[in-house]
Amino acid sequence: MILLETADAMRAWSRARRAEGHTIGFAPTMGALHEGHASLARAAVRECGVAVASIFVNPAQFAPNEDFDKYPRTFEADRAMLEGIGVHALYLPSARDMYPESYSTYVEVGGVSQGLCGGSRPHFFRGVATVVTKLFNAVEPDRAYFGQKDAQQCAVIRRMARDLDTGIEIVQMPIVREADGLAMSSRNRYLGPEERTRALCISRSLFEAGRRMGGGLKDAAAVAAGVREGMAETRIDYVELVDAETMRPVAAVDRPVLLAAAAWVGDTRLIDNILFTPEAPKEDASCC
Ligand code: PAJ
Repeated sequence: MILLETADAMRAWSRARRAEGHTIGFAPTMGALHEGHASLARAAVRECGVAVASIFVNPAQFAPNEDFDKYPRTFEADRAMLEGIGVHALYLPSARDMYPESYSTYVEVGGVSQGLCGGSRPHFFRGVATVVTKLFNAVEPDRAYFGQKDAQQCAVIRRMARDLDTGIEIVQMPIVREADGLAMSSRNRYLGPEERTRALCISRSLFEAGRRMGGGLKDAAAVAAGVREGMAETRIDYVELVDAETMRPVAAVDRPVLLAAAAWVGDTRLIDNILFTPEAPKEDASCC
């Protein structure tokens, strides 16, 4: 696996691979890698001739009061994991190169950026859309892999990739969970043992709501209320049922929906979600 540290070196490498006839798959990350990240890198290796991953803890998506400084950095383990998966190139830009002093261009994605994490972290999606644009410009991938764990982020990137005519296919991969249901996250490392147990109520409540929707519960307020009740041991940021594509709140489970939750467990903010698609109404046999 080759390590590339500048956008120019990354782009030159990527263009050389494309000239050899390869398609290029890309999995951007902030490191502190776990099986969720690994699933994206494996898909890139499996589905594309050449797979690129990146590690960059992006200051532009952290607010001053957030965890940028203490965000876990585990480079040697990350490098070994990606090498083991068969990733061909690892892009490691520096903050100084990404955002030199004169830096002044940002990408803002309307619509899907609003609400959910966009509501509680107003700076966040501007930072994400900006860095992903820059990463895309360096890697020039054909396909880029993102996790459903950050479903709104995936919707924002998909919108941005389409609106800016990037021609890049955005692939959303399912959430990888611990055996007990907790969604894997780099931030799970912050949790003490008692908090780790308490955090389980998030996925448990979402799964329970999924069963209730499967049983025919349609009322969005009732679905969200059930989840909030189940998450009482946390400090809830939001629990919302939204249209799976537009991220706009829905009143009823009458289309593919995303049930998304964010909550604080101690000092750690965790997010999780489930997707649910109601069955198409059965045709009335008596009418024809
Ligand atoms: P990071 O949190 O490191 O996540 C990198 C990618 O891994 C994202 O697409 C995320 O959705 C995915 N991922 C994280 N946990 C997952 C899980 N349990 N199952 C499946 N996929 C999972 O998201 C970011 O970094 C950054 O915002 C980034 C896109 C790199 C821009 O800075």
